[in-house]
Amino acid sequence: MSSPNAVTAVAGTNIALVKYWGKRDVALNLPAAGSLSLTLDRLGTRTTVAFDDGERDRFVLDGAPAGDAATTRVSTFLDRVRASAQIARRALVTSENSVPTAAGLASSASGFAALALAATRAAGLELPAPELSALARIGSGSAARSIFGGFVEMARGVRPDGSDAIARPMPEGDGWEVRLVVAITAAGPKAIGSTAAMTHTARTSPYYEAWVAGVPADLTAARAAIAARDLAALGVIAERSALRMHAAAMAADPAIIYWNAATVAAIAAVRALRAGGTPAFVTIDAGPHVKALCRAADADAVAAALRAVPGVSETLIAAPGPGARVVEAP
Ligand code: PMV
Repeated sequence: MSSPNAVTAVAGTNIALVKYWGKRDVALNLPAAGSLSLTLDRLGTRTTVAFDDGERDRFVLDGAPAGDAATTRVSTFLDRVRASAQIARRALVTSENSVPTAAGLASSASGFAALALAATRAAGLELPAPELSALARIGSGSAARSIFGGFVEMARGVRPDGSDAIARPMPEGDGWEVRLVVAITAAGPKAIGSTAAMTHTARTSPYYEAWVAGVPADLTAARAAIAARDLAALGVIAERSALRMHAAAMAADPAIIYWNAATVAAIAAVRALRAGGTPAFVTIDAGPHVKALCRAADADAVAAALRAVPGVSETLIAAPGPGARVVEAP
C-alpha cells in the first residue's frame, strides 16, 4: 500500500477547558470567541497521504472506505492544499483513530490536524506551525489546537481571512502533571454535528450572546490558573465553561441535548469526589461522554469512581501529549 511519496503524520485529540461554541464565519470556521485546551497523549489519529494518478480522492477510515460525506469533507480540504502547492493530483488518504469510531469519541480535532500536516508535506509544502494551525482550522475549528502539544490557546482573531484565528502553545503549562479521565457513557455517533449545533444555538438560543460574551474573562482566568498551576482555579473555570456551553445549546429552540442519564450521574460522581476532598472537575463536549480534569496522582481513583456510575461502559486516563508530527516520510 505504501507509496514512495506517502507521508504519515499523527496528532492527539484535544479537550477544550474553555470551550469553542459558535462561529463568526462558517465557511472558514472562524470562532466567535477564543478557546483553551489540553492536547492528549491518547485518542489520536494517524493519517497517511499519498498523491497519485487516481481519478478522485479516496479516504479509508479505520480500515474501510469512508462514506461520501466524510470523503467529500476530506477532498474539499485537500483542494486547499492542492491550490497552495499548485498541484492537481488526487490522493489516497488512510486514517486510523486510536479509539473505535463507534465509541462516538473519534475527534475531528486530531483527524484534521494529522491530515493538514500529512497532506501539506506530501504536497511538498513545509508550513510554519501557525499557518498549519490556520489550515487545520478550516477542516475543523478544534483541529487548529491539536497542531500544538500540552496547553494551547486558540485566538478568535479579527481578520476576515482567518489568518489570525490560530492556536498557540502555552509553554507555561509544560510538565504540569494533570490528567483527563474519560468516561464513555454511550455507543454510536453524536446526535447532531458541532457545526449544525453551533449555528442552531446562535440562531435560536436566548443565551448564546451571553455565552460568547463570557468567554474572554474565562480565558484570562484560565491563563492565570495555568501559569500558577492552580488546578482548583482551572477546574472551576473548565466545569463552568462546559456547563454554560451546554446550557446555551439546551436553551436553543428546539433544544440540543447531548447528555444521557449516565452523563448526569457522572457529573454528580465527580462533584461528590470533590466534596470528599479530591479535586476533580467535569468537562463535556458535543456528546454524552464526561471527562474529568484531575491531578495525575488522583487519576486512578477518579477513574474508579466513574466506572462505578451506572451506564459508564469504560474509562480511560489521558495525559498531556505532544503536538502533530510527521512519523514517516520519503
Ligand atoms: O471542532 P468542532 O467543529 O468539532 O467543534 C468543537 C466543539 C467542542 O468540542 C464542543 C468544543 C471545543 O472547543 O472543542
